[in-house]
Parts: sequence; structure tokens; C-alpha cells
Amino acid sequence: MQSVEAVRWSADGSAVRIIDQRELPGKFIERDLATLDEVVSAIQTLAVRGAPAIGVCGAMGLVTVAQRTLGGQPDFQQRLADVAAIIREARPTAVNLAWAVDRVMRVAAATPGDAEAGIAAMRAEATEIFHEDRRMCRAIGAFGASLVTDGSTVLTHCNAGALATSGIGTALAPVYVAVEAGRRVAVIAGETRPLLQGSRLTAWELARAGIPVTVITDNMAASLMRQGRVDLCIVGADRIAANGDVANKIGTYGVAVLARHHGIPFYVAAPTSTVDPATATGADIVIEQRPAHEVTRPFGVTTAPAEAAVLNPAFDVTPAELVTAIITDRGVFRAPYDFAGAAPAHS
Ligand code: MRU
Repeated sequence: MQSVEAVRWSADGSAVRIIDQRELPGKFIERDLATLDEVVSAIQTLAVRGAPAIGVCGAMGLVTVAQRTLGGQPDFQQRLADVAAIIREARPTAVNLAWAVDRVMRVAAATPGDAEAGIAAMRAEATEIFHEDRRMCRAIGAFGASLVTDGSTVLTHCNAGALATSGIGTALAPVYVAVEAGRRVAVIAGETRPLLQGSRLTAWELARAGIPVTVITDNMAASLMRQGRVDLCIVGADRIAANGDVANKIGTYGVAVLARHHGIPFYVAAPTSTVDPATATGADIVIEQRPAHEVTRPFGVTTAPAEAAVLNPAFDVTPAELVTAIITDRGVFRAPYDFAGAAPAHS
């Protein structure tokens, strides 16, 4: 598979380099994020997106802003904390963003007094988060690949592939590893209204990797399952509660209900950085509400009257009872979920 590098350091390390996912699949454009506004705006407008990728971007963005603007400031620690708070709140649902920013901040707090040494330590931590994410994706792929047998068709929702991480993805990692092992695997990508991460991004990266992919509108999933054309579902996650409830892209819950009705296994694949032991159940997860124009005027085309009220939650919660298993970098977990020892410490 040709690597896709959704988020990384720029060549000279002075900025965060991202693939601008708002432009895909039409244009492949990389951008360097060098200011707080650029980092926050890229995360909020989904130029960089997907739980692990925004975690890495947040961590690297914090270091970038600290290095460029806070270095010589007398109140370095206070200003750093203010910047960290703004980045960690850029999007509320994916726990990876706060988790990664908090990790970098813990390192900064451990080197008080010397801003330069603090920034160097923060950079090392952000770089480690990046590499760790790559390793976690690989491990998810290794654990999940055995579930993807030769000739199988996997339905996925949204994009939880390489574009959503700094590695080979989460939901798509088992597919990539199974294909590497010589198995024939096909993917059905739900288009994922309203922002079309499935058709724009999942289909793009799979086609680029030479893996057969079929795009469907979200409302076709039931019919395909009834026809026996889906062997298993694998989706990603933005936050997994301690009881195994899973927040992921809006529409995931519907796919899980359909899969249960048709007796199809429904897997969630996520790194342990997405498991949040501090969140007891899905009811405690804050769901991001996004602007109405994404629904009424997607990609500049008016699709609903201006007078219509709009709901646009970015995520929904799939209850643990609908999840067959959760594939993580530390193994495959099944109900009753006990992530103790698997979940990283969240502050
Ligand atoms: O709003 P997005 O595009 O950031 O939503 C992304 C998802 O819901 C993904 O499935 C999730 O973050 C897992 S990415 C490995």
C-alpha cells in the first residue's frame, strides 16, 4: 500500500503538515499549519479529521505554537495552558484530541522554569504520539485481519482509514493487512451524509491502494444486507465509554441496528487512546453539533429550503449490546468490557 500521510511534521519541523481533506477527492493539497488559528480552523473545518489524526495534529499544533510564539515569554506556562485549552476544545467528541494535548501538557509541566527545554520535551512527546499512533494502527490491523477472510465484503461507514490517523487507519487496518496477506477483500463504503467522508475519502484511499471499493448512499445498506452482500461491518470510533458504548460518525448506530437484524457481525476498531474510562456510558459523551449549512447547502448546492429547521449532530452512540467486538491495538475485546490495563490513562 502506498502510504498516505494525513498528518506529520513539515519538512523542517516548524509546522504541522496535513493533507487538506476538504479538497479530496478532486485535489490533493498539503498545507502547513503554523499558527493557533490555522490549527484550530483545520480541525474544526475537517481539513484534518478522524479521532487519532486530530489528536496528533493537536499535539503537534501545540508544540508549533509554543515554539513560534511563546518561547521567550515570561508567563510561558500560563500562555501555554491557554493555547492548550483552545486546541483541546476545538472538537468535543473524539477523546483523542484532549488526550494528546493533555499528554504534551504533562510533559511541559514536568520541565518548569526552562521554556526551551520544555518545548524540546513537548516536541519529543508529540513525535512519540505520532509514532505510537502508527504502531497502534498496525496492531489493530494484525488483530483484526483474522476476522477478514478470503473473499469477504466489508461494509464501513465514514472514514476510519489512513486519512483519519497517522498510520494505516483503524477500521480499514484489518482490510489492508488482510490484503497484504494475499486475501481478496472488497469494501462497501457508505457515503456518509452530510460531508461524504465515505465516498470522498474512504473510496479515494482504497482505490489508491488498489482495493475494490463500492460507494453506496447511506440508505442502501439495509437492502444490500438483506441480499446477503455484506459479510461484516467494521467502523471506527471517536470515544469508547467504559461500558463499551461507542460514539462514531452519525449513521453508525443505524448500520449497527441493521447488522444485528441481518445477523451480520458489527466490529468497532479503535486504538486504546480512544477508550475513555472516565466516561461511564455513551449517555455521558458530548456529541458535536455542526452548522446547518452542511445539511442544507452541502458543497455549495442548495438541497433544502432556508426556512427548514435542521439537525446536524456529527456523531451518534452505538450501544455496546450491538457491537460484536472491539478491535484494539491490545487485542479484541468482547462484552462484558473490561478495558482496565488496556486503556491509557486519561486526565
Ligand atoms: O467528523 P469526522 O470526519 O472527524 O469523523 C470521523 C469518524 O467518525 C471516524 O470514524 C472516527 O474518528 C474514527 S477515525 C480512525
